[in-house]
Amino acid sequence: MPLVTSKKMFQMAYKNGYAVGAFNVNNMEITQGIIQAIAEEKAPLILQVSRGAREYASNSYLTAIMNVAVKENPDIPIVTHLDHGDNFETCKQFVDDGFTSVMIDASKMPFAENIKVTKDVVKYAHDHGVVVEAELGQLGGIEEDVVGVDDVAKHLTDPNQAVEFVEKTGVDSLAVAVGTSHGAYKFKTEPKLAIDRIQEIQDKLPGFPLVMHGSSSVLREFVDLINKYGGKMPNAMGVPESAITQASKMAVCKVNIDTDLRLALTAKIRQVFAEKAGEFDPRKYLGPGRDAIKAMVKHKLHVLGCAGKAAECL
Ligand code: 13P
Repeated sequence: MPLVTSKKMFQMAYKNGYAVGAFNVNNMEITQGIIQAIAEEKAPLILQVSRGAREYASNSYLTAIMNVAVKENPDIPIVTHLDHGDNFETCKQFVDDGFTSVMIDASKMPFAENIKVTKDVVKYAHDHGVVVEAELGQLGGIEEDVVGVDDVAKHLTDPNQAVEFVEKTGVDSLAVAVGTSHGAYKFKTEPKLAIDRIQEIQDKLPGFPLVMHGSSSVLREFVDLINKYGGKMPNAMGVPESAITQASKMAVCKVNIDTDLRLALTAKIRQVFAEKAGEFDPRKYLGPGRDAIKAMVKHKLHVLGCAGKAAECL
C-alpha cells in the first residue's frame, strides 16, 4: 500500500537519523517535478496541501493529481497531508476526503485552547486511522506567507510545555518553533536558529517525532536567476542546508519545503520569458520549471538524508 500514514516513516527517520521531505503542491507540474525526483531517488514522500492550495486548484483536481502520483509509484510510501489546518472542521473534511495525515495549527490560541482543539482533532482522526501533527510556539504571522520573526526567542517552543502538550493531546508529531519562518525572507542579516532547542525538546520527549516548518533554503541559484531576469528579490535569505541536515539527524523527522519549489518554478519561467520573448506555449516554460523542481528536490533528498529510504518505510 503506497498511500500510508507517516507512522512508520517517522519511526525509521528517527531511528536512522534522517528526515522526510514534506513538499507543498499547488498544481500538476509541481507535483510531477517532486514525484519524478522521489522516484529516481527512492525516497519516502509527504505531499502536502494547504487550504490556500485547495482553494486555488480545487480539492478534486489536487486529489486526482496526487492519486495518480500514488498509483504510478507503488514502491514509494506516500503520505497525503493537510498543511496548517486552522480548525476542527477543516481537519475533519480532509480526514473524510481520504488524506492520511492532518495538521491542526492552533498555535496562535492560548495553550489550553490549543490543547483542546488538538485533542478533538486527534480523537476524530485516530478513529479514522489518520495521524495528526500540531504546532506549539510561533513561527510568526499568517502561516502561508509569513515574514521573518524579529524577536525569535519569545516565539520558541517551550520544552516543558511540549511535554505537557504531547501527553494531554495524544498527537503524533509536533511542529516546533526554533527560529524558522515561512517565505523567502526568513532573516534580516544572518540566519539565526535555535538548534539547541530541538535538543532540549528531544531530551524531554525521547523517541517523539518533531517537525520543522519554514525550512526552505532560498537557494541562491534561483534568487539570482529571478533577479537577473527582471525580478526583485533583494535580501532573500533562507535556512542554511547544513542546519537542515543537522536537525534531520536529530528528532526532526519531517521538514516542510514550499518556497524553494516556488523559486525554482518562477526562476525558470522568468528565464524562458526573457530569453525567448516570442514564446507563448505554456509547455515551453512550465516544462523547464518542472525540470528545475525535479533537480532541486533530488538535491534536497540528500540534504535530508532520506534518499534511498523508501523501502524501509513501507
Ligand atoms: P518555506 O516557506 O520555508 O518553504 O516553508 C513551508 C512550510 O513550512 C509549509 O508549511
